[in-house]
Amino acid sequence: MAIQWYPGHMAKAKRQMIEKIKQIDVVIELVDSRVPMSSRNPLVDEIATGKPRLLLMNKMDMADRRATKAWQNYFEGHGLKVHLVNSQTGQGVSMIPEAVRQLTATRRKKLEDKGFRPHADRALILGIPNVGKSTLINRLAGKKIAKIGDRPGVTTAQQWIKVGKTMELLDTPGILWPKFDDPQVGLRLAATGAIKEELLDFQEIAFFLIKTMLVYYREAFAKRFQLTDLPELDGVDDQNLIIKVFDQIGKKRGCLMSGGMINYDRVSELIIRDFRGQKIGPLTLEWP
Ligand code: G4P
Repeated sequence: MAIQWYPGHMAKAKRQMIEKIKQIDVVIELVDSRVPMSSRNPLVDEIATGKPRLLLMNKMDMADRRATKAWQNYFEGHGLKVHLVNSQTGQGVSMIPEAVRQLTATRRKKLEDKGFRPHADRALILGIPNVGKSTLINRLAGKKIAKIGDRPGVTTAQQWIKVGKTMELLDTPGILWPKFDDPQVGLRLAATGAIKEELLDFQEIAFFLIKTMLVYYREAFAKRFQLTDLPELDGVDDQNLIIKVFDQIGKKRGCLMSGGMINYDRVSELIIRDFRGQKIGPLTLEWP
C-alpha cells in the first residue's frame, strides 16, 4: 500500500529508525531488483552509520538476470555485501542468517576476547514501501506476522523473532520513504507500484515503460503486444514514435473510444498491468 509522505512523517520515521538501529547489530537493507538504485532511500547510509549492512536484492524473479548481476557487481564494488532473494518463494532466504553471521564476526570476536558470550545477531529489515519487507519477515519467521501498514511514524510494540540458532530479527521493519526529487526515479518507483499512481500520470508511467522497452527489451515487448514494426528511438522524434506505439497497442487490443479514437488511459493501464504482472518478462528498469 503506497501512501504519501510529508516532511513531518519523514522526520519522525527517521528518529524512530535511529532508535531502532541502536538495538541491532546488522541492518538488512531490502531493495527491489527491478529498480535497485531507485528503491534505496538516500538516508540509509546516514541512518545505518557504523552498523554492518547486508543489501538484499529482493524480487529477483521479476528482474532481468543480466541487470541483476551487473547491479550485484556494482554494489559489491562499493563495498556492500549483497544477496539475491525471492521472498515470495523463499529462494536465497536460507542464507541470510549465515550472511548476517559473517557480518558480526568482528563484534563477536571483540566480546569473546573480553570474556563475554555474544548474544544472537540482532537484525532489522529496512526499506521503502512495497519492496517486500513483510513478505521477507514472514518467510524468515516461518509464519505470518501481522502486517503493519506502511504508515509513517506509527509505532507498534516490537518483538524479536528467532531465526535459526544465531539470528534474531525485529518483527517490525524499518519503513523509509521513497525518493521523490528525481522525476525519473519517481517514474521507476511508480511503475513498480512503490509510490502512489495518483501522484503521477498513468500515461506518463506507460510512456516511460514503452521508452524503456524500446531501448532494452524490444523483442519481449514486440512479442507480448504482437507489434511488427517497432520504431528505433533517435532522441529527436521520440515522443511521436512512442505515441505511435501507443496507437498500435490501442488498435491491437481494442482500446478505443467512440469514434475510433485511441483510449490512451486504457492502453496505459494495460501496459503497466502487464509490466507488473510480468507478462512482458522479467525486466529491470535501470542499469548501473
Ligand atoms: P512491504 O512490506 O515492503 O511494503 O512489501 P510486501 O511484503 O507487502 O510486498 C509487496 C508485494 O510484493 C506483495 O505483493 C508481495 O507478495 C510481493 N513480493 C514480495 N517479495 C517478492 C518476491 O521476491 N517476488 C515477487 N514476485 N513478489 C514479491 P502484493 O501483490 O502487493 O500482495 P500479495 O497479493 O502477494 O499479498
